[in-house]
Order: sequence, then C-alpha cells, then structure tokens
Amino acid sequence: MGKPKVLVTRPLFPAARAILEKQFDVEYWTRPERIPRAELLARVADKDALVVLLTEKVDEELLAAAPKLRVASTVSVGFDNINVPACTRCKVVATNTPGVLDDTTADLAWALLMAIARRIVEGDAWVRTGNWPGWDIDQLLGGDVYGKTLGLIGFGRIGRAMALRSRGFQMRVLYQNRTRVSPEIERELGAEFVDLDQLIRESDFISLHVPLSAETRHLLSKDAFSKMKPTAYLVNTARGPVVDEAALAEALEQKKLAGAALDVYEQEPKVHPALLSRRDVILVPHIGSATIDTRSKMAVMAANNAVALFDGRRPPNALNPEVLGS
Ligand code: DGY
Repeated sequence: MGKPKVLVTRPLFPAARAILEKQFDVEYWTRPERIPRAELLARVADKDALVVLLTEKVDEELLAAAPKLRVASTVSVGFDNINVPACTRCKVVATNTPGVLDDTTADLAWALLMAIARRIVEGDAWVRTGNWPGWDIDQLLGGDVYGKTLGLIGFGRIGRAMALRSRGFQMRVLYQNRTRVSPEIERELGAEFVDLDQLIRESDFISLHVPLSAETRHLLSKDAFSKMKPTAYLVNTARGPVVDEAALAEALEQKKLAGAALDVYEQEPKVHPALLSRRDVILVPHIGSATIDTRSKMAVMAANNAVALFDGRRPPNALNPEVLGS
C-alpha cells in the first residue's frame, strides 16, 4: 500500500518538510501567489491530510470536496479559518499550533504599544524626508507608557505574556476574560479582573488577545470607542474583525482615542481606506508570530499534528478530540 497523501499549501520550512515527507506522499503548493480556491478544492480530492495557512478556509465546501480527508492542520493558533463542527461531522481531526507563538506575539504587541505611544513610525518617516530641522521642545510629543494602565482583553497565554512585560514598566494591569484566572496568577502578574466597561474607561492602553468568534466580532465598536480615554491607545494583534475598522477610523477622527496600532484587519489584505492616511495609526502586515524560530516551530507542530494520526498516535493539538474517541 502507498503512503497516505497530504496537500500542503506552502512549502513551509525544511524541518517540517522532513517530518511530512517521512510519513506522506507530499504535494506542496509552491507558486508565489496563494493557492486559488478552485485549485485547493481540486487538489484536496484525493488527499488523506491537509496542512493549510490561516488564509485558507476549511469549510463545508472543502470537506465535501475531500472525501478521504482525515486531518486538517492549520499552521496558526487562531483557527477561525476552520469550521471545527463541520470537521467533526465529517470525522476530520482539526488541529492548530498553540503555545509556541505566545511570547513572539506578545513581543510584537509590546513593540506596537511602544511605537504608537512614542510616535516611532512618524519620527522615522520625518527624519527620512531630510526635512527634520533638529531638536525642538514640542516635537512628536507622545504618551508615557511606564506607570500607566494596561487593559488586556483576553487573558490567555498571550494576554498574560503582555501582563508579564508590563511589570518592567510599573503598569497597573486590568484584564477581562471569559473566566477569571486563579488568585495566584492574578497576584503573580499583578492583574485585576474587571468588566469590559471599566477596562475600556480606565485603560491608557487596550490590547486585544481574544480569538475571533461570534461573541468577539466587533467587540470594539462605536460604543466602546466613545468610552475610551481620549489619550488612550488601542493595539490589535488578535484578529481584525474584533475591531470595527470603520468605527475606529471615525473615532480617531473625532479624537475619541489617541491612536491605534494594528497587525490584523477585517478583510485582509485590505485595510479600511480611512485608516491608511492617518498619522495616529500604525499598520503592520499580520506579523505577530513572524520570527524565524517561531514560524519554524509552528510549521513543525503543524506537521507533527498531521502525521500523528497516520503513525497511530493522537494528534497532540486536536481541536475536536471527540473524533478520535477515547
Ligand atoms: C495565528 O497563529 O493565529 C497568528 O495570527 C499567525 O501566526
């Protein structure tokens, strides 16, 4: 009997390829553009496994086109690209890559927080024009970070990694989460559990760390922005649709908040046009986990998730373990 077949929608990294190639007959999508949907549907037809990026949807349509599929592995911690209940119905194990990107993503969120408060991107652009006239008393005045209040919406691994970073800046930390964490963790991180309203009203920096779901879509919209301090900043490294971009642009225009630093967008790769020209906004291209080490680890994890089932093991990061039985 031949090896099981896997489709991988990017060539990933050598260490991940080695794991996949030992177990599978591997087909990679190697062209520079993203795999077109029709191509994905056609190529998955005879595959036993699928390794995708967060840009490819594993939905009812794909599952119907892939009758042999047993595992769908996304190289991301967020799995809003995967319809997990549909996978469960089709007895396909869905997997993701939790854990390995927490600190890297928190580093980026922290970098954005510092950069928007201290107007780093504006300053860089100014110096490059050659028109900077030299030091002056009122140039590019930003907001202080140390000693301020950090509001973390979502207090899972990445939210907590942010709390840890804030300790060096003597910040007060407020958090909101579906469930309150233990008193020990609150004490260790100096974090205070508050409701969303209080967090929005009292924070100088709001950083988002929630997954995208029906409950979190447009969690920050017109109403939330109207409650923010006019001196406060928003950082989003979670998922774009958690923020209503049009409402954000309008709120910035009305000076309801001081600035926003975004890594993720509602309709990637598009960005709301009203945000593009604003100097009080920093825009980076979804690079939260984009370091060599972390992306390699994510790819290896996704590869291991895919091969496990065919090795007679349980995929370590199954999102629907009920498919595997006990
Ligand atoms: C994820 O993994 O969900 C990030 O958005 C990309 O690394």
